[in-house]
Amino acid sequence: MNQVIDLLKNHRSIRKFKDEQLDQDTIRELVTAAQAASTSSYVQAYSILGVTDPRKKAALREISTQPYVEHNGHLFVFLMDYNRHVELSKEKGTPIDHDKTEQLIVGTVDATLAAQNLAVAAESMGLGMCYIGSLRNDMARVIEILELPKGVVPLFGMVV
Ligand SMILES: Cc1cc2nc3c(=O)[nH]c(=O)nc-3n(C[C@H](O)[C@H](O)[C@H](O)COP(=O)(O)O)c2cc1C
Repeated sequence: MNQVIDLLKNHRSIRKFKDEQLDQDTIRELVTAAQAASTSSYVQAYSILGVTDPRKKAALREISTQPYVEHNGHLFVFLMDYNRHVELSKEKGTPIDHDKTEQLIVGTVDATLAAQNLAVAAESMGLGMCYIGSLRNDMARVIEILELPKGVVPLFGMVV
């Protein structure tokens, strides 16, 4: 009856992927769908990182212990990101607090809504996906591997 609801009801996580990389048009389409999600006060307190460097993927697999973190069509990492806001606030001379519980909630919720949009968009294209929370097994090391600046925190990955 309703294709969107049917798609949502048929969701299941996929943990084995073909050895085929997503093309740039597909990645752009997925990220655009993610960015269309609502965002608290329009602050967009997140970034979506695509990890393609095989050495970085192998290092992230080691942290997660899950082989599909290395072998997939594309690995996205969802970040809570206040770096842009901090830089802009310096420029404008209006300091902001980004280390409060409220900011943690805003960033996490924003990133999660974007991620779920991306998940549904991927599934609508016939692609499988799985969230990867196990990156948080060693958050400090993930920050190091991905060379994340201050104010940026890895929340979870998603393999497609
Ligand atoms: C935030 C989040 C983190 C997750 N992390 C992992 C993970 O690290 N590895 C994994 O195999 N599955 C992970 N999952 C997938 C869940 O295990 C899965 O969604 C759940 O068991 C329900 O199964 P389903 O998605 O097939 O309905 C995660 C799911 C969410 C929402």
